Amino acid sequence: MKPMTKSPLQIARSFYEPKLPKVLKGDVILKAGAPTTSAADEQDIKSLFPNTFGMPLITFETSEKQTQPISNVGVILSGGQAPGGHNVIAGLYDGLKKLNPENKLYGFLGGPSGLVDHKYIELTKDIVDEYRNTGGFDIIGSGRTKLEEAEQYEKGAVICKELGINAVVIIGGDDSNTNACVLAEYYLKNNKGIQVIGCPKTIDGDLKNEMIETSFGFDTACKVYSELIGNIQRDANSAKKYWHFIRLMGRSASHITLECGLQSHPNICIISEEVEAKNMTLNDIVDEIVKVIVHRAEYGLNFGTILIPEGLIEFIPAMKKLISELNDLLADNDDFNELKTDDEKRQYVKGLLSPESSQVYRDLPKGIARQLTLDRDPHGNVQVSLIETEKLLIEMVAKQLAQLKAHHEYKGKFSSLSHFFGYEGRCAIPSNFDADYTYSLGYTASVLISAGKTGYMSSVRNLTAPASEWIAGGVPITMLMNMERRHGKMKPVIQKALVKLDGAPFKYFEANRDSWADEKQSYIYPGPIQYFGPTEVCDQPTITLQLEKGL
Ligand code: FBP
Repeated sequence: MKPMTKSPLQIARSFYEPKLPKVLKGDVILKAGAPTTSAADEQDIKSLFPNTFGMPLITFETSEKQTQPISNVGVILSGGQAPGGHNVIAGLYDGLKKLNPENKLYGFLGGPSGLVDHKYIELTKDIVDEYRNTGGFDIIGSGRTKLEEAEQYEKGAVICKELGINAVVIIGGDDSNTNACVLAEYYLKNNKGIQVIGCPKTIDGDLKNEMIETSFGFDTACKVYSELIGNIQRDANSAKKYWHFIRLMGRSASHITLECGLQSHPNICIISEEVEAKNMTLNDIVDEIVKVIVHRAEYGLNFGTILIPEGLIEFIPAMKKLISELNDLLADNDDFNELKTDDEKRQYVKGLLSPESSQVYRDLPKGIARQLTLDRDPHGNVQVSLIETEKLLIEMVAKQLAQLKAHHEYKGKFSSLSHFFGYEGRCAIPSNFDADYTYSLGYTASVLISAGKTGYMSSVRNLTAPASEWIAGGVPITMLMNMERRHGKMKPVIQKALVKLDGAPFKYFEANRDSWADEKQSYIYPGPIQYFGPTEVCDQPTITLQLEKGL
């Protein structure tokens, strides 16, 4: 392997020793807690997962050293990159080697397809050491292939048998952990002797429940975006001439936008879940933005910042109905796929939509309408990162301001700039929090494997306490599941955790946002992630997590 050319920070960072929960520093035994149910639709989930439904929660306790049989494990990185993936692998590797130095770790290449297509490498000490505390998923690559066919599971079992692999760890988001759950059930039912363990990854922060306090990567990504937003705010406050419309990643839930809002105090921060709950239209959103712009203009402040969640479009009720009809209509639709031009596609779609949705579709600017019918991802989701909502809003806001100006109701000057922050944060060098959390998640997975567990997600809790007091264990994946409509059919999936409007983070935001919007100066400039220095600068978890914990 050719060693990487490293920056001074990367070199210094490679010596960082991630903190572990105290219990993981010695040998452990498992303690089974209460049996679990599912997030909803209990009977359906129980009948679809007869072997893995209802398993107990697991925590770890310190024990005497026990000899462990040799275990070969395969690991898969699945879906979008999130800071800390490499440390999950490092924690898993170190945990396995500590249990038995003969244990081996294989990495399946390019995501779940590596398991099916038998593409893998053995992850040796040299390789793992090269990637400790770094961002990215480049150690083995990632992919979005959906594992959903028995044929894929069987092919996976063949390579596991060949390599003597008795457990597979899938590091992924809600869809990938749904796949992990289905795979665990299949291998158990068919006596394949292959355990499956999931790890909660996604910058979106929407894979969580009371046992999974946050998904990894959310902390680092939000800190990177908040730094950039702060920098833009300082520029806006210096130049005093632009309104910045900033769209932030997060396919569906608005956790990233809310957290960045809490960290930087923008003038406007749109939360999709609120838009949906208030049954707002696109025009209602534009009205609210215009109100703030007009108010600030009265004080001569023709600048500001507006945060827009990536998934907004899907939460506007009329748009949501349209997208859901499009999803059903376009799933495996060969007739549509054969159409050549945008106009043909537009006509085809218009004819098949319900009258209400057809009207909404007609009213959309052509570019946005086109983006809604582009290819789905392998899970059947609209690729929201391709929809340029920030530009749509700029267009609509500018139009309304021009009308107000014509009626002498607005005297300001509106110049706008659009930004989209997403890929800038997904592979950042993990913050201390994410470096510690991911290493602990990987280490925890090794313990669950050594205890013969399957269908569990690695869980590390009590995350606002110092790392030594974190609680490690396992959560049955079925506990997070419910039934949802996908590709036009009801499927068991992990329920997405959306922003709760009665939750502490949103309540705090709601109580403070008006004072961020008006003429007074409220911007915060968080600055870059710090890796070395005082703990209050380097080790703080997200504000979301702190508020959720009542801090
Ligand atoms: P995961 O759910 O796989 O973690 O992906 C998160 C995400 O970054 C979303 O925020 C975004 O909408 C999407 O991935 C972008 O996907 P892609 O990497 O395929 O462009």
